[in-house]
Amino acid sequence: MTGSIVLFGPPGAGKGTQASLIAEITGKPPVSTGDMLRSALSEGTELGVEAKAFMEAGKLVPDEVIIGLIRERLKEPDASKGVLFDGFPRTILQAEALEEITEVSAVISIEVPDDEIVERIIGRRMDPVTGEIYHVSFKPAPIEIHDRLVQRKDDTEETVRSRLDGYHKQTKPLGNWYGERGLLITIDGTGSILEVGALVTSAVNTL
Ligand code: AP5
Repeated sequence: MTGSIVLFGPPGAGKGTQASLIAEITGKPPVSTGDMLRSALSEGTELGVEAKAFMEAGKLVPDEVIIGLIRERLKEPDASKGVLFDGFPRTILQAEALEEITEVSAVISIEVPDDEIVERIIGRRMDPVTGEIYHVSFKPAPIEIHDRLVQRKDDTEETVRSRLDGYHKQTKPLGNWYGERGLLITIDGTGSILEVGALVTSAVNTL
């Protein structure tokens, strides 16, 4: 399939968790704006310095910054046959800019209610060595790597509420925007990681 795929959904819906599976099936490289911003932050680049306060407050980084970042990323040779976007676009302005840059073939929306989101995010732990995403209850990490697991700075209950608020106001309307263009595929994200993975796999196989 030509064109890019967008993984859409609220914070903590499981986009990052399912991204590697979709990347494996489609061969499209995952492009996560959240991961790109976190790398910039830990490297202390100009972009990281600019994004830090927004991310820590659970607010969206300004559109022009994100669009510039994506424009540069899509110039890389591995992006020539489309990519798998995770966490981008998040505003209608970002989606309009993306239309100018590349073709979007499908938008997979993982739907999870707010109450489940909070539990997922607060229990999330990341392995900085492999990038693997774990959860204290839903996907426990092997005991031998417990010492190196980290919790994201924005994974606090207060920040999650702010991220959810921003999602409902700025990002959710984008679902309808893609729906009107016939690109939206909705997945029930409330099952286990394996159950959601099976739904995602059958959706991707229809593309
Ligand atoms: P970003 O990193 O994109 O965060 P997010 O959208 O808030 O999404 P998350 O990474 O929190 O969740 P996810 O859906 O990937 O869930 P995961 O698979 O980890 O963005 C961070 C910040 O950067 C933003 O707040 C903003 O400031 C900035 N930013 C990024 N992109 C931007 C943009 N385009 N424009 C402006 N600003 C931008 O799963 C969560 C947890 O749940 C894990 O512990 C996992 O193990 C568990 N889990 C997953 N699936 C299941 C399941 N089915 N059942 C039970 N547990 C599950």
